[in-house]
This record gives sequence, C-alpha cells and structure tokens, in this order.
Amino acid sequence: MRLTFRLLSVVATISLTLYMSCSSSDEPEPFDCGTSDLAIQLVADNDPTGCGSDDGSIQVSATGGQGPYQFKIGTGAYGSTATFTNLGGGSFNISVKDNRGCEKQLAAVVLTAPSGPVAGTPAIDAQTNCLSPNGSVTANVTGGTPPYQYKLGSGALGSVATFNGLSAGNYVITVEDDAGCSININATVASNTGITYTGEILAIFQAKCQFSGCHPDNGNWFDYNTAKGSAAAIKAHTANGTMPKGGEAAPGGALSADQIMLIACWVDSGAN
Ligand code: HEM
Repeated sequence: MRLTFRLLSVVATISLTLYMSCSSSDEPEPFDCGTSDLAIQLVADNDPTGCGSDDGSIQVSATGGQGPYQFKIGTGAYGSTATFTNLGGGSFNISVKDNRGCEKQLAAVVLTAPSGPVAGTPAIDAQTNCLSPNGSVTANVTGGTPPYQYKLGSGALGSVATFNGLSAGNYVITVEDDAGCSININATVASNTGITYTGEILAIFQAKCQFSGCHPDNGNWFDYNTAKGSAAAIKAHTANGTMPKGGEAAPGGALSADQIMLIACWVDSGAN
C-alpha cells in the first residue's frame, strides 16, 4: 500500500514537471496583426469593353507581412492569383492574407461598363396610304457609345434610324451602340388611311360575299353595325384566306391582295 502511494506521488511529480516545462514556454505567442505592415496595392484595373461582356480585370500586389500571400475577391475563397478576370461593371472588394493569417482589404475598385444608349421618344408617322404603306418610325437615342446601329424586329442591323413603308401596327426597334449595348424601343404606327365601310368595303362584300349559303346567312356584312361588330374576325379570315370560303372556287372568286389590304386598313383605322 505504502509502495503504491509512493509510486503514485512520483508519477504525479514527474507529469507536473513535464507540464510546467511544456505548457508555459513552447506555445508561440499569437502574432498581433495590428502591428503588421501587410499592405495591398492596386496594380491595374480594366473596365469591361461592353455592357454585356464580362471581360474586365483587376490586378493587385502585396507587400510587408509575411509571404506567401493569398488573395480573394468579394465573397470568393482565398487563392494564390493576384489577377481577377471576367469581371463586368461593378464595385469589387479585394483582400490579401499573409502567412500569419493577417488580412488587409483594398479600397473598393470600381469597374464601369459602358452605359447603354438611352431611348428618347421615337418620331412616328401614321400610315395614311393603305395600298402603299407609308408609316414610319425614327428611333431617337442618346448616351452609350456611338455610333449606333438599328434594326426593326428581326431584321439586320444598319446605320439608319428611320424605318419607312410601314403598315399600321406595333414594332420593336433594337438599337445597339459601339460597345455592344443594346436597347429595345417599342413603337406603334397608327392607321389613318381613311378607308371606310361605305367608301370601299361594302362594295367588296357585295361582290365577294353576297351569295346564297354565304352571307348574310353566316353573318350579315351588308349591315354596317353587324360588320363592325365582327371587324376583327373579318380581318383575320380574309388575311388568312379562309374567307371567301372556297377561295378561287367561291361564287365571287377570291379576294385580291389589294382588297385584303383595304379590309385590313378599314379595321385598323377603327372600322369607320
Ligand atoms: C369577302 C367576303 C367574305 C367575308 C369577309 C367573310 C367573312 C366571314 C367571317 C368573318 C366568318 C366568321 C363569322 C363568325 O365567326 O362569326 C364567316 C363565316 C362563314 N362564311 Fe364567310 N366571308 C366571306 C365570303 C364567304 C363566301 C363567299 C362564302 C360562301 C361560299 C362564305 C361562307 C361562310 C360560312 C359558311 C361561314 C360559317 C362558318 C364556316 O363554315 O366557316 N363566306 N365568313
């Protein structure tokens, strides 16, 4: 029993001695980063060349502290590269971390994508000639990076801002500037062709529809209010060729292209 106690106290003494000698002297003091001379510098920044192209870049370097250095951008992870590419416009925070774990952040670096063109009110002329459409739209833009290119709908880009020969309807003009920034401008060409029911349309209906089993049986287009009430259907059926029913074989034959346009002009200008 006495032997066991002596043995235990010897073991305890040895371990205490060991602990005292290990814990107090070998753990290195954590480095006070507040005293670090670590610094980060901006070497170069390149704005993106276009508002749609993420080809901007930022290059930094570091001095002081204890190398090697690691760098990160925004919320990204630290890595060894000091150049960040594929950047669009924006404000970027870049940090450096040295071998001691000290960090420094560069003041925000702003890259500016060329701003796109700004749409002004387009100049629009109504269609006044039914059979030779003469509506027009001129795009008005400022800002961005001239010169500008223009296209109507899915057409090709060109340097002319005015589109002529338009029928009444809704159009989209895309404007692209020299930095590749593009905007869309919506424009509506009104119909002011003066085509009227009594002036042009009734005669067409009388020539092409007024047959037994045709009209007025299936819609009395010889009554203005009835025809006006179905104006949209009349425009649709004549434009897609379902009316006159039977086309060329219809009692009065098919409608000519001009007759189809006149009916469309009548409907577009309010079926007056
Ligand atoms: C310019 C001449 C004509 C116009 C503008 C016209 C227009 C129309 C329209 C808009 C409708 C649909 C009515 C609705 O959904 O309420 C319709 C229906 C109809 N039309 Fe005509 N039509 C024309 C000529 C003819 C002719 C020549 C025939 C006879 C061969 C004909 C036979 C019919 C028939 C049977 C219907 C009932 C629905 C159907 O079977 O498709 N139409 N028409």
